[in-house]
Amino acid sequence: MSATLVRLRGVSKSFQSAGGTTAVLDGVDLVIEAGQKVSLVGPSGSGKSTLLALIAGLLQPDQGTVEFDGMPMGNLSDDKRTALRIKEIGIALQSENLIPFLTIEENVELALEFGGHRSARSTARELLSRLGVAHVARHLPRQVSGGEGQRVVLALAMANKPRLLLADEMVTQLDAFTAGTVVDDIFRQDMAVFFVTHDTALANQADVRLALRHGQVVAG
Ligand SMILES: Nc1ncnc2c1ncn2[C@@H]1O[C@H](COP(=O)(O)OP(=O)(O)OP(=O)(O)O)[C@@H](O)[C@H]1O
Ligand SMILES: [Mg+2]
Repeated sequence: MSATLVRLRGVSKSFQSAGGTTAVLDGVDLVIEAGQKVSLVGPSGSGKSTLLALIAGLLQPDQGTVEFDGMPMGNLSDDKRTALRIKEIGIALQSENLIPFLTIEENVELALEFGGHRSARSTARELLSRLGVAHVARHLPRQVSGGEGQRVVLALAMANKPRLLLADEMVTQLDAFTAGTVVDDIFRQDMAVFFVTHDTALANQADVRLALRHGQVVAG
């Protein structure tokens, strides 16, 4: 038996800019079950990152609802939404969000401490080593390669054992072997994973394959 973790009903989102209004999502319906691995493909600019931000509660829909574990996110206060992101939703976005003046392990430790974790140092080390980046633990973010940075961002996102991992282009800068190892590790975890990719082979590894076309989510 599976439980619904995320449900979107009729979600629409437009952006205003100097050039006018861009309608990006137009009535998206989507369900992610607990533990399910779901891939999302779609052309550049089709709204994939926007959809992740809406599920993360970083953006609010113009219309429709986003529910996490049966709770409409729009009804939560900013504080509650932040707490939900710290504890339950791991986010690995295209733009990295590492603190530039903390070392890699301090960045991961900080995330763990926010999540109420006690032995943050050893857990951070364990996590970095699982993802093959223990050797950069004492580096600053600007001193790591693109592929190492991607793995650090994933380590941060998974630090508090979230129920949902949202990942945008999670292994684009990794060689095929390392990417395979990282993806295997992520897929072995109990958490649901909703990930955006341009890589068809990776998309096909998911339990459910979705695509974004003309503002709507369809079978991929
Ligand atoms: N804050 C914003 N203000 C105005 N327009 C935006 C904003 N964020 C995104 N857009 C526009 O919305 C559209 C969808 O952007 P989004 O980043 O979701 O695409 P994407 O599918 O993730 O693309 P890619 O594969 O290139 O990452 C684009 O046309 C983009 O320019
Ligand atoms: Mg994107």
